[in-house]
Amino acid sequence: MPSAAPRSSIASPSASERAAWPSAARWVPDDHALPALEAAVAGCRGCDLWRDATQAVFGSGPRGAEVMLVGEQPGDREDLAGEPFVGPAGALLDRALEDAGIQPDTVFRTNAVKHFRHVDKGHKRIHKTPSRWQVAQCQPWLLAELDAVRPRTVVLLGATAGQAVFGPRFTVGDHRGRALVWPEGVGPEPERVFSTVHPASVLRSRNRQEDYDAFVADLRLLSR
Ligand code: URA
Repeated sequence: MPSAAPRSSIASPSASERAAWPSAARWVPDDHALPALEAAVAGCRGCDLWRDATQAVFGSGPRGAEVMLVGEQPGDREDLAGEPFVGPAGALLDRALEDAGIQPDTVFRTNAVKHFRHVDKGHKRIHKTPSRWQVAQCQPWLLAELDAVRPRTVVLLGATAGQAVFGPRFTVGDHRGRALVWPEGVGPEPERVFSTVHPASVLRSRNRQEDYDAFVADLRLLSR
């Protein structure tokens, strides 16, 4: 595993800097087998986020999983471990899946963005939501993962995941817990797509139990 030492914080790139980043498509191999994709994502330079991250964090779970869960981006713990959802949000997600009657190890988990965007504050690395531009640049990896796993159902956890598929105007509040129509021309179309909140928002909530119960109710849609 590459060194875990945090590097400098990220300044937002200017328009001319952005133009120099070509999107991830150039790094995505034609071979969409999961091991080939995982090997290639490590070298992705499709946007600027790789510079301050420890490593790219690719999706994890069984090939052919019925369900793919899409989060936002790796957090601090995931960036260090190289695995999605291994921190507190992942623990809550696992508990919620079990409470919804779904075995956590049967789902494939990934993120809309494969590198950790953060700012350094003293010794802490503080999560920073990826920009629309970074979400768009990273979309080819998500579509390649979809092609590799071909899940029956995709669950978009939070606004960033929704925006990675439906575009920058997507909000969870408008669409939560309902079957959505997959947008035409966006990669391989799953049979069903749902959106719900991100598990981290449940962790931060003042009404944690209520929000947790609503999250579990959304996930129960998966077992239908
Ligand atoms: N939050 C995410 O969206 N993804 C992770 O992998 C961890 C936390």
